[in-house]
Amino acid sequence: MVSLWNKTMIATLMFTALLSCCVFPSTAELPRFDHKAKADGSLSFLVVGDWGRRGGYNQTEVAYQMGIIGEELDIDFIISTGDNFYDNGLTGVDDAAFFESFVNIYTAPALHKQWYNVLGNHDYRGDVEAQLSPILREIDSRWLCLRSFIVDAEIAEFIFVDTTPFVDKYFTDPEDDVYDWSGIRPRQNYIANLQNDVDSALRESTSKWKIVVGHHTIKSAGSHGNTHELALQLLPILEANKVDLYINGHDHCLEHISSSDSGIQYLTSGGGSKAWRGDVSWWNPMEMKLYYDGQGFMSVQITKTEVDIAFYDAFGNVLHKWSTSKQLYAAV
Ligand SMILES: *[C@@H]1O[C@H](CO)[C@@H](O)[C@H](O)[C@H]1NC(C)=O
Repeated sequence: MVSLWNKTMIATLMFTALLSCCVFPSTAELPRFDHKAKADGSLSFLVVGDWGRRGGYNQTEVAYQMGIIGEELDIDFIISTGDNFYDNGLTGVDDAAFFESFVNIYTAPALHKQWYNVLGNHDYRGDVEAQLSPILREIDSRWLCLRSFIVDAEIAEFIFVDTTPFVDKYFTDPEDDVYDWSGIRPRQNYIANLQNDVDSALRESTSKWKIVVGHHTIKSAGSHGNTHELALQLLPILEANKVDLYINGHDHCLEHISSSDSGIQYLTSGGGSKAWRGDVSWWNPMEMKLYYDGQGFMSVQITKTEVDIAFYDAFGNVLHKWSTSKQLYAAV
């Protein structure tokens, strides 16, 4: 028998739960890291994606140039847009690929900064928990990889989003590869929670610049092209919260699309090793600011009033530069 008191309690609890979920937005559940900006409040970092091939396909050359540009720009950290280890992620925390594709490749002093890494679809073909494991952080303290997380660098807030679980074909195509979905199922809950967390994090952010990082493209003219699942399930959240940059890999190229749909800049830095030369579709030239089908990486410099982006090839040559500004005291 449920007493009247119990019924009242249950009703109260349910009402409270309803309120906290639907009326007052819940705070984001994502792990949060603080990264101090420079003394003047500015920040600079490099972005590399789709890289882990034991130095092959110009990975070593790109790493070398990252070291030089990283020094010049006095970078604060490095972002990896995923597909960290080819072809099938890591086999475990003791996989030699961690040394052969990461520790022994990005050796320049300027690259001995914090790395913030997301997972790509190739990483999901191996032992996902291994890449997320603190054991890798003990081996090389630069390494930080989580499924989704927040980096608060005061002037800019970064939301790293686990995009692979959004993509239907990895779940439905029987011909496709085997993925490690432990920790993802039930998939619809995972995606709904993530959407909620990203939305909360962006809404609560008071940073001047809002940057979202994921492995998969939203808009791209490359081989994989647009990821329609993200266009439907992630992009509306980014648009509603006036995100400045969406940074991704997945297409093995360097690309900048400045869409007329919103203020979001779509930046692909997927040229960390093997590039797909010539594999590009038509895109509106008014929006396409850069498409380079070779290897390279990207840099971003941020101040209170300005963001400067540059793309570099495997020789360190600048391929494209772009800047935008906001007023110093404009409302966030
Ligand atoms: C390495 O980069 C150079 C210069 O872009 C290019 O000519 C060469 O084909 C690349 N090598 C590989 C294996 O991709």
